[in-house]
Amino acid sequence: MENNGPLNEALAATSAAVERVLDPILALPDGPERRVVEAMRYSVFSGGKRLRPFLVLASAELFGVDRTQALRVAAAVECVHCYSLIHDDLPAMDDDDLRRGKPTVHKAFDEATAILAGDALMTVAFEILASDETHSDPYVRLELVRELAKASGHHGMVGGQMIDLSANELELDEGAVHRLQQMKTGALIAFSAEAGAVMGHAGKSARASLQGYARDLGLAFQIADDLLDVEGTPEEVGKATGKDADAGKATLVGLMGVERARKQAEILSDQAIEHLMQFDDKASLLRAVAHFVINRSV
Ligand code: IPE
Ligand code: IPE
Ligand code: MG
Ligand code: MG
Ligand code: MG
Repeated sequence: MENNGPLNEALAATSAAVERVLDPILALPDGPERRVVEAMRYSVFSGGKRLRPFLVLASAELFGVDRTQALRVAAAVECVHCYSLIHDDLPAMDDDDLRRGKPTVHKAFDEATAILAGDALMTVAFEILASDETHSDPYVRLELVRELAKASGHHGMVGGQMIDLSANELELDEGAVHRLQQMKTGALIAFSAEAGAVMGHAGKSARASLQGYARDLGLAFQIADDLLDVEGTPEEVGKATGKDADAGKATLVGLMGVERARKQAEILSDQAIEHLMQFDDKASLLRAVAHFVINRSV
């Protein structure tokens, strides 16, 4: 039986620490723009596994990066992630009413506020990365900005969301679904796992290992999300389930069936771990999280 204690503790600590960083950054203004910040805070401080921030901190630790600085990068990624969730839930996209066990932002506020809250969470992420509090080396800050922009935009998350929404008409095969998931989910996860290497000026081989790890982890993670849509309940998962097939989403679960998709997720999780060989015991939490992403119930 696997001992998940250290990982659970690390995830809880990540969550608390990221919230401490974001609380003053998302301070409520007194002016009439206050409502958009209320919506941003509603999204960000509503739980969530904080997987991406955890990956930033765990990779930063491999290279001895200052934790206060790594936490700022972790916070920036979580802002982009929360923005992506707010927009993903909008009526024009997946049209969902429940997220992290609570009404989605457009339900709790309204659609226009949800769109703006997403926009502002995206831009504040880059404001955080560009600040000299995040790293003393401006070239590192620039690389973080560029890589997060690439991971979030049309080469990455936004591009993947576009394909996801067009999947009805596209008849995607397994390779095309892999590419879609790599873009919509994998890219931000990959940024997170590599951010520590960027901050720590890590060498090529360490970066290549983390890239390989993140690629397999991201795919395993999205397969697990798609399995939860089929097998989970809204009470457990905190969001609507049983929607992907009806909405015509292209998923590996849809193409391969539940059993083969689960097997594929296990293979990807094992492969992810194999990429971490060079890091020895230092990467034990990254190994544990590869098991966690496919065995989670939320
Ligand atoms: C959900 O991501 C959206 C996907 C990319 C599948 P998470 O499962 O990481 O959501 P939270 O942050 O824990 O709520
Ligand atoms: C969303 O994928 C991925 C992003 C938000 C970029 P899903 O649409 O499957 O995520 P959930 O299931 O709503 O969390
Ligand atoms: Mg979606
Ligand atoms: Mg969705
Ligand atoms: Mg989903």
